[in-house]
Amino acid sequence: MSNKGLKICLVLFLFLLVIVSVGMVTLFLTVFKPKDPNIMVQPVGLEHFNLSLLTNLTANVSLPMVITMVNPNFGSFEYPEAMGYVNFHGGIVGEVPIQGEFVPAREQIVVDAWANLMLQKVVTDTRFWADVLSGSLNFTSTAALPGKVEMLKILKLKATVYSTCDFSIDLTSRNVDSKCSAKIKL
Ligand SMILES: *[C@@H]1O[C@H](CO)[C@@H](O)[C@H](O)[C@H]1NC(C)=O
Ligand SMILES: *[C@@H]1O[C@H](CO)[C@@H](O)[C@H](O)[C@H]1NC(C)=O
Ligand SMILES: *[C@@H]1O[C@H](CO)[C@@H](O)[C@H](O)[C@H]1NC(C)=O
Ligand SMILES: *[C@@H]1O[C@H](CO)[C@@H](O)[C@H](O)[C@H]1NC(C)=O
Repeated sequence: MSNKGLKICLVLFLFLLVIVSVGMVTLFLTVFKPKDPNIMVQPVGLEHFNLSLLTNLTANVSLPMVITMVNPNFGSFEYPEAMGYVNFHGGIVGEVPIQGEFVPAREQIVVDAWANLMLQKVVTDTRFWADVLSGSLNFTSTAALPGKVEMLKILKLKATVYSTCDFSIDLTSRNVDSKCSAKIKL
């Protein structure tokens, strides 16, 4: 083949490659449009929580929780370690270190985490005692997990999962109601 023919071949090949890649990304974004993951966060063992811990307000209290993450997508999602935050009436009162994980396509993972609450910040909020009298304490937690989505081992896209959970602790029964919502953004 002549040099010129080779060049035309190469250009055609690159052109095809671009068409195929664009096609795949379009397919991914339309047919396989990423669905929002489903995240559930449940504090555990609150009924055994040792109330004597509350007498030392300068201490941090760690509450164990179980996080379930369901990935409804055809792509896997992988994220490095991140930090979640606990809010009480809009102020940050705690942190939740989150380990990095790999969530396979169309599967769910269950991970343990600890919420480290700064008691002093909760108790010094003027609305704390009013809430205690009303019988429930409400917290919100937020986390952003920047990571990457991978499909068929070839297509890699950056994506971030944003999750927000509302917790309502019933102080008499120590029952915790939690509702989470999560969004994935490419
Ligand atoms: C609660 O903690 C205190 C002090 O750390 C301890 O003496 C007590 O036995 C604990 N109670 C329970 C039920 O774990
Ligand atoms: C309260 O907690 C802090 C930090 O954990 C600790 O240094 C301090 O000794 C504790 N005080 C009491 C009275 O237990
Ligand atoms: C409580 O946690 C905060 C934030 O994680 C940290 O800055 C602080 O030093 C901790 N305090 C104690 C007594 O461990
Ligand atoms: C906490 O949330 C629950 C349910 O959303 C609500 O019924 C309750 O009044 C709230 N409590 C406070 C103290 O805001």
